[in-house]
Amino acid sequence: MGQKLIFSRSGAFRGEIRPPSDKSLTHRAYMFAAIAKGGTSVIHDPLKGEDCESTLDCLEKLGAKIERVSHEETRVSAIQNWNTTPVTLDCGNSGTTMRLLSGILAGQVGVNATLVGDESLSKRPMGRISAPLLLMGAEIAGATPPVTIHGRQLKSITYESSVASAQVKSAVLLAGLKAEGRTTVTEPALSRDHTERMFNALGVKLIQKANTVLVDGDQSWDSFTFRVPGDISSAAFFAAAAALHPGSQVTFQHLGLNPSRTGILDVLEQMGIRCEIENLDDELGEPVGNVTIQSSEELNPFVIEGDLVPRLIDEIPVLAVLATQCQGETVIRDAKELRVKETDRIAVVSDGLKKMGANVTPTEDGMIIIGPTPLHGATIDSAGDHRIGMSFAIAASIAEGETTILNADAIHSSYPEFEEHFTQLTGQTPLVVNT
Ligand code: S3P
Repeated sequence: MGQKLIFSRSGAFRGEIRPPSDKSLTHRAYMFAAIAKGGTSVIHDPLKGEDCESTLDCLEKLGAKIERVSHEETRVSAIQNWNTTPVTLDCGNSGTTMRLLSGILAGQVGVNATLVGDESLSKRPMGRISAPLLLMGAEIAGATPPVTIHGRQLKSITYESSVASAQVKSAVLLAGLKAEGRTTVTEPALSRDHTERMFNALGVKLIQKANTVLVDGDQSWDSFTFRVPGDISSAAFFAAAAALHPGSQVTFQHLGLNPSRTGILDVLEQMGIRCEIENLDDELGEPVGNVTIQSSEELNPFVIEGDLVPRLIDEIPVLAVLATQCQGETVIRDAKELRVKETDRIAVVSDGLKKMGANVTPTEDGMIIIGPTPLHGATIDSAGDHRIGMSFAIAASIAEGETTILNADAIHSSYPEFEEHFTQLTGQTPLVVNT
């Protein structure tokens, strides 16, 4: 059943929220618990969205014991007897599930798995992971899903990735743990380094030099306890809303502040927005803190390019919404990766914003947006992409008239409490229509 959400223009966003837990970290915590040497890992505050549930379901089918103790706690036991019967693993909408699991399964001798996904995931490129895994001697096929894998003994490689992708890097590093010798991955710019930080915290020896990571094979770890920090990619929506609405101030508690993810804070500062960080702490090598965002009188346009791109790749749709209200020309380039996310985000964001009255020109690898332009309500199809649904909900909050988001249920794959937090911060409740 699909869902429509209808939003109207709102007032200021004010208050304090605990954003949903980090999606990338929840996936990794679950997978790393399942491939530990033994024991049961305790994951506090996991993201309860559909993507991470897909990871849990796949791990369960492979032989892990999963206990969903409460909303705030999931326990995952290390797999002792891998399921070697042919198994179909449904990764749903989740690229991280498919790509990281592929790296794990490639070296798991005896496993015979077919990884499938929904309509959107079935169109996403998997050659980027099968290419390095094939070089390692893996038996893997499928340029797009389904991906079939017969686990076997791997050999190490030195791999130069043509994309700055944490999913590619992590797949190779996870396969590297099962390979003989030292595996090296170099990427063109540093993508999120959650895998490396978690490896370090779990005692895996690895070497990091600029954009290169080296890991030796035959390493594992004991079960662990991890409290998942808040997801900066989810906080981004209400941070953008706070920036857009005069008189706003929103505080995000226990937010993940890994520098490979905080590009949005740099851009907000370029725009003239104050971001204050307090209570800095650490969760298994991941910095966390409370972050307060305040609106400003005038928004400066900004440039996103080069090494900044992987540090905010998932935030570009909502940053494009912000750009429509900046004084002048915003340029987003070097972001071709957006075309192979849950949707072609360059096309879908440009089309949707134009429909709402913005001045946007899509380019091959980004967008040029000239502001400020008043926005008006429109009907926008999320096309099953959570970040598109939420970005246009924020656009709707500054638009004249009503905006209807079609296929809005996609939002819950990463932000199950989105409407609740919208209401908490604005006092306005979006209208839900089940179709
Ligand atoms: C992710 C990495 C990013 C990001 C995705 C999650 C991860 O993708 O867009 O939402 O968990 O490693 P790429 O690594 O392909 O850029």
